[in-house]
Amino acid sequence: MTTRYRVEYALKAHRRDALIEFIKGLLAVPFVLHCQPTSTNSPKSLENMATEAHRRYKEIMQDIEELVKDHIQCDNAGTPERSKLRFLVPSVGRFFTPLSLVKAFEIQDEKRAISSRRFVAPSFNDIRLILNTAQIISLASLDGPIKLITFDGDVTLYDDGQCLVPSNPVIGRIMWLLEHDLRIGIVTAAGYTDGAKYKERLLGLLDAIKDSTVLTEKQKHNLVVLGGESSYMFRSAPEHKDLLEFVPREEWALPEMKWEKEEVDALLDIAQASLLESVAAMNLPATLIRKEMAVGIIHSEGGKFPREQLEEAVLAAQKVLELSEVGRRLPFCAFNGGNDVFVDIGDKRLGVLCCQSFFGGLKGGQTLHIGDQFLSAGHNDFKARMAGTTVWVASPTETVACLAELRHHMETNHTKVAA
Ligand code: IMP
Ligand code: MG
Repeated sequence: MTTRYRVEYALKAHRRDALIEFIKGLLAVPFVLHCQPTSTNSPKSLENMATEAHRRYKEIMQDIEELVKDHIQCDNAGTPERSKLRFLVPSVGRFFTPLSLVKAFEIQDEKRAISSRRFVAPSFNDIRLILNTAQIISLASLDGPIKLITFDGDVTLYDDGQCLVPSNPVIGRIMWLLEHDLRIGIVTAAGYTDGAKYKERLLGLLDAIKDSTVLTEKQKHNLVVLGGESSYMFRSAPEHKDLLEFVPREEWALPEMKWEKEEVDALLDIAQASLLESVAAMNLPATLIRKEMAVGIIHSEGGKFPREQLEEAVLAAQKVLELSEVGRRLPFCAFNGGNDVFVDIGDKRLGVLCCQSFFGGLKGGQTLHIGDQFLSAGHNDFKARMAGTTVWVASPTETVACLAELRHHMETNHTKVAA
């Protein structure tokens, strides 16, 4: 490894998604060979160029689709070391379903004109959206029975720090899912012990469930909120004054989540010391918030922290905790919440697993988690990848678009079966 490469890696590793970078690198070759502007640019040559680029991009997608299939087979056979994809992208995780990448590429190419571009190569966002579509198609296919959708809160269902207001178009989409007997989990870092707080954040959706004349009584109870990543569970209950009822921990926590209070406090003490050190070192106008299962810093004057300072505080806390004894025993999640930094006990892998177990033992291939934070360090949706399939959105608008796509494919497949 050259020094230049090492320096680049140290600087950027936590801000890259290795699989997306790998695909981007593969697509860059046909882009450079076929799309870069040439001396002739008559309409005819542009059309030829687009056709050729489309064919080459599609071939690459076909190859990756095969690599994913082989990866799943190797994992299932107990020989993960034989996966070629793992050899090429060592940090790649588990795939719960095959991915229809060719079909997804056709759909996104139509929307984003990827093959017709001569100056802008296939980008991170192009590939992220192709992967999302591929995941959605795989789940909505005939043998991919999706049963549970879990959502992150901030930036996925609503804008950062905002509430789910009645006019949010995601509400109608979630109601449709409930009507079709899907279970819904809202797996958020926002950790409150009081149902009234979640009622305030989710009011538009909870009201729609209460007022629905279409949902059955059972369907009206098929939504849970898992707060503090995996710390507190509430279930939708239109008859309750908060429209949510607290579910006692014994009813949903996994056996591996029986942590001693002293251990939890010890981990939070280390996290707190690290956050305070960052506050002092960078002279941040921050206020510390200590909770039963979390510790964090927020802006004291309602201003905005620069991204670099938030990330510095996250990575410092993460490193200190990783090196600590207690940090090796307890799962934790240090993340940049947009304008705050939190360290939570537990993580979204556990959060999604708890929803699966609460709804009767659902599997990863029956679960979709939709979130906005999927970078390996400092992002809290990342660990949900270990519990189920995922879709990576950049805004609440994209979440609505993904749900529309899911509905479209579910309905199309249903029609095909009926025909
Ligand atoms: P999420 O995107 O739904 O996971 O919500 C993350 C946001 O919830 C954070 O950025 C914080 O602003 C807020 N929050 C409130 N309480 C907590 C907590 O106890 N832990 C982590 N985040 C919290
Ligand atoms: Mg979020």
